[in-house]
Amino acid sequence: MRRVVVLGSTGSIGTQTLDVVRQHADKLEIVALAVNSSIDTLAKQAGEFGVKHLAVGDERLAGDARAVELAQLANAAGGSFGCGASAVADLVRLPEADIVVNALVGAAGLRASYETLAAGKVLALANKESLVVGGDLIMPLARKLDAAAGFQHALMPIDSEHGAIYQCLLGEDAAEVTRLWVTASGGPFRGRTRAELKDITPAQALAHPTWNMGAKISIDSSTLMNKGLEVIEAHHLFDMPYEKIEVVVQPQSAIHSMVEFADGSVKAHLGTTDMRIPIQFALSYPARWKAPVEPLDFRKLGTLEFAAPDVETFRCLELARIAGKTGGTLPCVMNAANEVAVATFLAERNSYLGIAECVEYVMDAHEVQTVESLEQLEQLDAWARACAMSWVDARV
Ligand SMILES: NC(=O)c1ccc[n+]([C@@H]2O[C@H](COP(=O)([O-])OP(=O)(O)OC[C@H]3O[C@@H](n4cnc5c(N)ncnc54)[C@H](OP(=O)(O)O)[C@@H]3O)[C@@H](O)[C@H]2O)c1
Repeated sequence: MRRVVVLGSTGSIGTQTLDVVRQHADKLEIVALAVNSSIDTLAKQAGEFGVKHLAVGDERLAGDARAVELAQLANAAGGSFGCGASAVADLVRLPEADIVVNALVGAAGLRASYETLAAGKVLALANKESLVVGGDLIMPLARKLDAAAGFQHALMPIDSEHGAIYQCLLGEDAAEVTRLWVTASGGPFRGRTRAELKDITPAQALAHPTWNMGAKISIDSSTLMNKGLEVIEAHHLFDMPYEKIEVVVQPQSAIHSMVEFADGSVKAHLGTTDMRIPIQFALSYPARWKAPVEPLDFRKLGTLEFAAPDVETFRCLELARIAGKTGGTLPCVMNAANEVAVATFLAERNSYLGIAECVEYVMDAHEVQTVESLEQLEQLDAWARACAMSWVDARV
């Protein structure tokens, strides 16, 4: 039995993780759940899965009547309940936990990723922002755990592209890899010009062609920032220089990514576009369990198309590459600016094209430092958010 902590259990990845657990209740047990503020859904999930340890990220809910009731229930069952970021991070250190699914959104997931590996637990990572912001701190912890355990699985990627690359690399010599091909759907605005993007609304940007995801990643997918974040994630996860990481648009999202080797061979990972497959693989590895989805039928798939991404129109991909290649604290600052730019776009306080402009403004204003600590990254994250907010406010 693998004992699982699910952080972000009410979100798109979180609910799909619970679905995988439902399908494999004989092999997986949930021991803790965390959300930001969806306390009613948290209570329902805790009841269904019999979970005793619970946390909500939003500190303001500490005095809420439903929080008090949930705390009483958890304590009576010999569990725990807490509010705030530290209560969320506390869950990953529970002695009864083996593996933590980090499905929080944004840089808020960084501390939990770090604490999971520091506590010697396996990290099943959906929260790509953790690696974008703190890859320099997180990867050494993962490598140390792998070295101690004698095999490579302290950090299991849930992102479908990275899960795909991880599987293509199994049994291979990393020194023989010449390129990683990260695939992109191209988002809902593929083929449009900048002029056509000027008046895009949140509702239009939220409608992703192939994946059904949370709001932040949906906007990131439409701007191609998501692909930029994934390039940085791939750099850290697979220790690959940026020159060897290519992005290719594959509109059907059937190929989840590819790895090219020295002899010219290319391995691709294909499958149904359903996040429960990579989530399950991260939880079942090294075994493969029956999937709760229809397998891909190639006779119905038809054609597979490929194209270069349009980095002139979708500037965020290039900004992320610049941040990644520069390294240090620039990815942290870029990520925080993007979170503010996306949130203000969703709140109709920023334009669609303003997302990239805001990110570039904050990146330009930052003096890059070497990454030293979580505290340093948290301080710079706060600075970048304030800087991005001032850019937005100046334009309202
Ligand atoms: N969705 C996908 O298909 C997909 C695919 C690949 C990678 N990812 C990555 O997975 C992560 C999650 O994405 P998502 O689409 O599942 O997001 P989502 O639907 O917005 O869900 C986010 C979850 O995190 C919780 N949360 C947010 N901030 C929190 C905080 N400060 N403390 C505690 N809980 C917090 C939310 O709780 P409330 O309900 O209370 O707000 C919710 O349960 C992101 O990093 C994303 O890039 C997602």
